[in-house]
Amino acid sequence: MRYFGRMTTITTPLSKKLGLRYPIVAAPMFLISNKEMIVAAAEAGILGTMPSLNARTAEAFEADLAWIRSKTDRPFGINVTIGLTAPERLARDVELCLEYKVPVLLTSYGNPTEITKQAHAHGTTVFHDVIHLRHAKKAEAAGVDGVIAVSQGAGGHAGLIIPYVLVPYLKEQLSVPIIAAGCISGGAQVAAALALGAEHAYIGTRFIASQECGAVDRYKAMVVDATHEDVVYTDAVSGIHANFLKESIPEATTADRSPAAAKRWKDIWSAGQGVSLIKDVQPIAVIVDNIVREFHDATARLRQ
Ligand SMILES: Cc1cc2nc3c(=O)[nH]c(=O)nc-3n(C[C@H](O)[C@H](O)[C@H](O)COP(=O)(O)O)c2cc1C
Repeated sequence: MRYFGRMTTITTPLSKKLGLRYPIVAAPMFLISNKEMIVAAAEAGILGTMPSLNARTAEAFEADLAWIRSKTDRPFGINVTIGLTAPERLARDVELCLEYKVPVLLTSYGNPTEITKQAHAHGTTVFHDVIHLRHAKKAEAAGVDGVIAVSQGAGGHAGLIIPYVLVPYLKEQLSVPIIAAGCISGGAQVAAALALGAEHAYIGTRFIASQECGAVDRYKAMVVDATHEDVVYTDAVSGIHANFLKESIPEATTADRSPAAAKRWKDIWSAGQGVSLIKDVQPIAVIVDNIVREFHDATARLRQ
């Protein structure tokens, strides 16, 4: 199949609600996502995001929001890591998101009830990260607009349930939309996620290997060179199970549950099993175009 010009839009009810060309989120990554990635993703027709904590201070975060607002009028999202953020900083970051009319808040590591109430009063959409049904039910009861189903093999903190089960199971059990996260590196996997009942694909690791990403070149190269065999699932880095590139973990690493352990994410590099399918560092616009082309190729193959 060949494409000329802008590629055909892919829509789901959720992508229409958010005003996106494609039902894809460039997922928030601690120390990795930045304002440049948000703008490039927004201009490519997907939802760019970053954790508010990627700005060192609330003042720096506000400057980032103002910069993003000056560069694009397309939707974007901000991740607030509830249990991992000092309460004052959390409150200020949420306040800033509402003041700057950030269209989507992504909540993780905690109870999203209060933030969801505040967000809804300002017309902001909220998605919450989950790895199993119990947390998904709590998030639904908290009133969130969708749950992010983080499957086995995902970059960052990941669960143990494979997406073939997690996505359709949560869809069956909940009435809010499901966003599929974990190991999605290409368009065939986006098609698979939508076929399983998800309304968005949530993609992290693929975007580490993007030109706009500020990760050091060696990290990007490791993502390109690695396969799933180079990824280890361990709680020895920060006390919570997550996937890391084996080569970046020093021998002496032991489980450390202190907040200081979070700093280790700078030197010990997280990535998901989707690394096996990542071959190049490319601009976000090219990554998105390739994913969309692969999506259309995959769905065309199903109709042959
Ligand atoms: C380096 C890295 C850092 C991450 N940091 C966060 C974070 O701060 N907050 C969050 O909600 N998710 C975080 N995640 C998880 C991603 O948002 C997303 O769920 C995950 O990357 C999807 O799986 P994939 O990497 O296999 O595409 C992180 C993932 C990676 C790879």
